[in-house]
Amino acid sequence: MDSIGSSGLRQGEEALSCSEEGLPGPSDSSELVQECLQQFKVTRAQLQQIQASLLGSMEQALRGQASPAPAVRMLPTYVGSTPHGTEQGDFVVLELGATGASLRVLWVTLTGIEGHRVEPRSQEFVIPQEVMLGAGQQLFDFAAHCLSEFLDAQPVNKQGLQLGFSFSFPCHQTGLDRSTLISWTKGFRCSGVEGQDVVQLLRDAIRRQGAYNIDVVAVVNDTVGTMMGCEPGVRPCEVGLVVDTGTNACYMEEARHVAVLDEDRGRVCVSVEWGSFSDDGALGPVLTTFDHTLDHESLNPGAQRFEKMIGGLYLGELVRLVLAHLARCGVLFGGCTSPALLSQGSILLEHVAEMEDPSTGAARVHAILQDLGLSPGASDVELVQHVCVAVCTRAAQLCAAALAAVLSCLQHSREQQTLQVAVATGGRVCERHPRFCSVLQGTVMLLAPECDVSFIPSVDGGGRGVAMVTAVAARLAAHRRLLEETLAPFRLNHDQLAAVQAQMRKAMAKGLRGEASSLRMLPTFVRATPDGSERGDFLALDLGGTNFRVLLVRVTTGVQITSEIYSIPETVAQGSGQQLFDHIVDCIVDFQQKQGLSGQSLPLGFTFSFPCRQLGLDQGILLNWTKGFKASDCEGQDVVSLLREAITRRQAVELNVVAIVNDTVGTMMSCGYEDPRCEIGLIVGTGTNACYMEELRNVAGVPGDSGRMCINMEWGAFGDDGSLAMLNTRFDASVDQASINPSKQRFEKMISGMYLGEIVRHILLHLTSLGVLFRGQQIQRLQTRDIFKTKFLSEIESDSLALRQVRAILEDLGLPLTSDDALMVLEVCQAVSQRAAQLCGAGVAAVVEKIRENRGLEELAVSVGVDGTLYKLHPHFSSLVAATVRELAPRCVVTFLQSEDGSGKGAALVTAVACRLAQLTRV
Ligand code: BG6
Ligand code: GLC
Ligand code: GLC
Repeated sequence: MDSIGSSGLRQGEEALSCSEEGLPGPSDSSELVQECLQQFKVTRAQLQQIQASLLGSMEQALRGQASPAPAVRMLPTYVGSTPHGTEQGDFVVLELGATGASLRVLWVTLTGIEGHRVEPRSQEFVIPQEVMLGAGQQLFDFAAHCLSEFLDAQPVNKQGLQLGFSFSFPCHQTGLDRSTLISWTKGFRCSGVEGQDVVQLLRDAIRRQGAYNIDVVAVVNDTVGTMMGCEPGVRPCEVGLVVDTGTNACYMEEARHVAVLDEDRGRVCVSVEWGSFSDDGALGPVLTTFDHTLDHESLNPGAQRFEKMIGGLYLGELVRLVLAHLARCGVLFGGCTSPALLSQGSILLEHVAEMEDPSTGAARVHAILQDLGLSPGASDVELVQHVCVAVCTRAAQLCAAALAAVLSCLQHSREQQTLQVAVATGGRVCERHPRFCSVLQGTVMLLAPECDVSFIPSVDGGGRGVAMVTAVAARLAAHRRLLEETLAPFRLNHDQLAAVQAQMRKAMAKGLRGEASSLRMLPTFVRATPDGSERGDFLALDLGGTNFRVLLVRVTTGVQITSEIYSIPETVAQGSGQQLFDHIVDCIVDFQQKQGLSGQSLPLGFTFSFPCRQLGLDQGILLNWTKGFKASDCEGQDVVSLLREAITRRQAVELNVVAIVNDTVGTMMSCGYEDPRCEIGLIVGTGTNACYMEELRNVAGVPGDSGRMCINMEWGAFGDDGSLAMLNTRFDASVDQASINPSKQRFEKMISGMYLGEIVRHILLHLTSLGVLFRGQQIQRLQTRDIFKTKFLSEIESDSLALRQVRAILEDLGLPLTSDDALMVLEVCQAVSQRAAQLCGAGVAAVVEKIRENRGLEELAVSVGVDGTLYKLHPHFSSLVAATVRELAPRCVVTFLQSEDGSGKGAALVTAVACRLAQLTRV
């Protein structure tokens, strides 16, 4: 082999040396021929070794452990299922790169009816050599030009054209319509395309061309088109094999085996890109000197070594190199070569296929060789045919080894003893070469005996499959548009948020003046934050958030808290007032007993997180219930009296109720104990609200003009006068209508934890009815109110969660979704929580600006004490609030402090301050 090899390498020299030595004798020549052809023989053991090595590389690449330049790439496509057969519509398909220098445009009609096919119309264009090797833009402009030339000639409706782009080169896909070229293969080497999104390049070119408005919907590899175009048969067609100019295969892999995908269910089509397989150990022994020469003289030396033994671009060239060598050695053509025989690319796949075809006969071989400027004798014709057979048989066998590796991979991943599968085959080598497919099939049977494979030739070169993928992609794109339309009203721009801020300022001013306003701006009679000199033991109650708590707060140099959580059943929260307050007192008694406090009458602070008109610190008339409370006979009553009456009913206890405090105020006080600049309290939990220190002179209805007082804004009700109507979506309306307080707390219903899950649920119902989610199937669970808790938003939006976990969360809810569904649900959650955080930020911006203006400051530095489960648990809420405040109140430096101990502590501190002041007055 070596002697022939070296003489095959350096063409000029070797030809000369042959002729110098004179023509070899008959026995020498047959030995030379034998040796030469022998190089193309591949043993079964070698094929098995290639199969095993390729399988190893495939599995390694799937696990994501491949080296930077992997032997095979295993590129996931965004095709997740084989066709249903129900896809329909008209599609334009543009094929680039499968077949040599030709570009094909097809008009494919999918009928959606099994067995009913409409022949596609198609046209082929030859890409000039200078375009294949020129600038990328030129290539795509050429493609756009061909497209419009084709379309000009079609007697069809050319509105709303959807195009599938078959682009047969290794690409990293990041979506059905996003694909970055990794590197050119085969005869292409256009500059400026590698590393670019080829869909975008095509779109740009179509736009530049300007003739048609075409939407490039999907991009696929030719192997994928081949697989997808396969008519649904008895067994699933889950492998696509192409042997055309190049060679490659794709197959349906279990998504969980593909490490780069964040998905554990379902299947995904993977393009193997086996053309680049180059394991030295396995391939080395079968590489001939002709392979080395061919590689050396190719556009991409060192790359695609496997493809260069199989692909149609190379078979003719290999034959040419062997013939030239044999001619130079004097074995062929009487030792004469010809300029054509010595020039690259003069023998094409078509020639090889014809010369090998037994039906063409010797005359045709003769003619082909003559066209090459050669004068073949009868024995030459036979020998040339042998060379063609040797080169092509090896190609088919190697291809079979690769296919056997894919089948083994498929079998491993399916965990099946015997795999029954259909392989769709396409490409000119498969279609036109007389024996390629039969050698391939026979060898596959030998190498993968446990697989029962049927081979199905693709009908129209994969064009139909590309149209299938395009149909699916078009459906998904339509869904995305519907999703975007649905979520658009939730995406607020700067002007909208600034308008909310301005409205809020107006409503604040009116409320403070005692004029009609959706903001009540309730005075709290809290005039100062703690100064640190407060001391004593206090009881505190905390009612109105997620938990009802009773607390013992010891204020010394620091604050110590002991607390107990009690439940308030919905029947109690929405039963009679007496029942509710009796229940509260029962809890206090229980707490006192547990803490050994029975019989002591500690001063008590009551965090009561509902709107109250206060006439003093220990008097608060409940204006109306909010959130989930609706106990009867309480509205219009003094809550402290209701509590005292219940205490009286329960004679055993004595309690000294000193202060009633809203949770916002409790939070502000509690944070104010640590940071004296804390002059705002914010709650984003079950409900939402804020309080802040206002100048007394601005507060109508409270005597005195100096100093400040904390104002409970009750901003949850902001917009109840219709001023937020422009922001209300149909989903807000549905949530409001189904609530226990329709048309009340409109701002709160767009922001707080009690409602966000419900908004999401209503959006999901809507998207389902549009067929965008859950394949349009109405899911009973989703009809259930409150099934979608706001804490799911926090979980789903958590960055550390993979999409598969999002799916698991939703499946636990009984929502059977695909990964597309999961992604959409995530986007819905994001839109809803983002709007909530931005609206909340606009509110805070209004407050800080008011404080700044009150004080006539150029710049204000202020802290906000914050509490609430949504604010604390949601991964992005707090940063979005802060960002919005920065944007809308650029002259305020706002620090957000999360309250750690709840508002109970604040209520105790308010009580402590009151006690201190009372003592002072007594003294
Ligand atoms: C806590 C208070 O600090 O925050 C509660 O102690 C308050 O009274 C709550 O209502 C708000 O959070 P959530 O999420 O429990 O409503
Ligand atoms: C080359 C390409 C590959 C394509 C194959 C067949 O190997 O890299 O993407 O599928 O040729 O056309
Ligand atoms: C509701 C209440 C309000 C409270 C807020 C947060 O909006 O009306 O008083 O501060 O919820 O809990």
